Amino acid sequence: MSQENKFLINIPQGAEKILERLNAAGHEAYIVGGCVRDSLLGITPKDWDITTSADPGEVKKLFRRTVDTGIRHGTVTVLMGKESYEVTTYRVDGNYSDGRHPDRVSFTGDLTEDLKRRDFTINAMSYHPDQGIIDEFDGAGDISRRLVKCVGDPLERFTEDALRMMRAVRFAAQLGFDIDGATAEAARQLADRIEYVSAERIREELVKTLVSPDPARIMTAMDLGLTARILPEFDRSYERAMEKGEAFLPPLELGFAPANAVLRLAVLMRNFGESPAESASAADDILKRLKSDNHTREHVVRLIRLQGHEIEESEAGVRRAAYIAGTDILDELISLQKSAAAAAGNETETLRLDSIGEIYRKVTEEGQCVNLKGLALNGNDLISSGIGPGPVTGEILKELLEEIIEDPSLNRKELLLEKALKNAESKRIIGK
Ligand code: CTP
Repeated sequence: MSQENKFLINIPQGAEKILERLNAAGHEAYIVGGCVRDSLLGITPKDWDITTSADPGEVKKLFRRTVDTGIRHGTVTVLMGKESYEVTTYRVDGNYSDGRHPDRVSFTGDLTEDLKRRDFTINAMSYHPDQGIIDEFDGAGDISRRLVKCVGDPLERFTEDALRMMRAVRFAAQLGFDIDGATAEAARQLADRIEYVSAERIREELVKTLVSPDPARIMTAMDLGLTARILPEFDRSYERAMEKGEAFLPPLELGFAPANAVLRLAVLMRNFGESPAESASAADDILKRLKSDNHTREHVVRLIRLQGHEIEESEAGVRRAAYIAGTDILDELISLQKSAAAAAGNETETLRLDSIGEIYRKVTEEGQCVNLKGLALNGNDLISSGIGPGPVTGEILKELLEEIIEDPSLNRKELLLEKALKNAESKRIIGK
């Protein structure tokens, strides 16, 4: 086995204890996968996975607190203090005849067999404090070459699990790597298999790509033929731009937008239709198709619909925009408009939107009234003075709010009540 002993990984105590206890019982055990990759890259791993020759039953006997997370696939979660670790038995995956789940997995006593079935060389390294890094497929070399490269035959790896094609794009985007030639070629050849993969798994990789430091990598997914299958609207919008001889701006716009999922999804899809309303409706369909959560879908749709809403560069203008768009998305709306202006090279508009952002911060910090919550009068106050209850209370509050948005100095309860009574009188509804 080739070993790279020079590198020391500072693994958490809990993981170390698990390795020691498994070793003491005569089993092999290593930390493996993403945490070894991230450690070599100087990134703090999100989680620490362990691979072992012990079968799940043996793992469960050795630890007091365990959860059967994926016992059929050999995974037991071991709880150590406040942390949890996935401990998986060395595994040889069977065929993924549906491209989704291995038909069956068999366990093996051989670490190399387990590493061989993994997707990319950078994800196929293991580590033990006494042995250093076990790197049979030159994952460390590919890290230094900055390459996403399949372990062994890429056609086999992608046939086993078609999602790996999207994972290749996602790792390239997250790490700033290239995709190895043969790996990319295999993905191009097998791109249609992505259609077998569940919408949730595809969406997860798509979103990870979009919120990465290099979201323009979505163009690699197009180049490989993946977006044509999972997001044909994106390819169509590209083709439309080409037919019109226009520059295709989304990759640039994505780079200018802060890395949050709602915003970047909105930037990606904002021109999928011929108008904001049409694009909003396309985004709604796509996010339903990708089984997105409702919160994300609704926010993306609202942003796209409002994308052209002109925000005036004044406190009243910003208050008005906050009232119309909603305080939950105004920051994103400003960012969306700014990314479009920046990608189009419109510096004046970019600066104007920066200033609008500043004004909005001030409006928020000062707690200026931009919605009914901020109004010094509420529905109960109206009812106590004999107005309503009924639709009229809402109507009058809305009118008052619109007045306060223009002139916050009027936001005083007695004054508002006076105005409300006048309004009600003019509507001849008092006491009804
Ligand atoms: N793996 C694989 N094929 C997949 C998914 C995962 O071979 N389709 C293997 C890889 O060795 C990977 C490990 O399982 O490193 C863990 O997978 P996962 O947790 O999805 O990814 P990480 O590599 O840990 O990266 P991240 O947590 O950043 O997503």
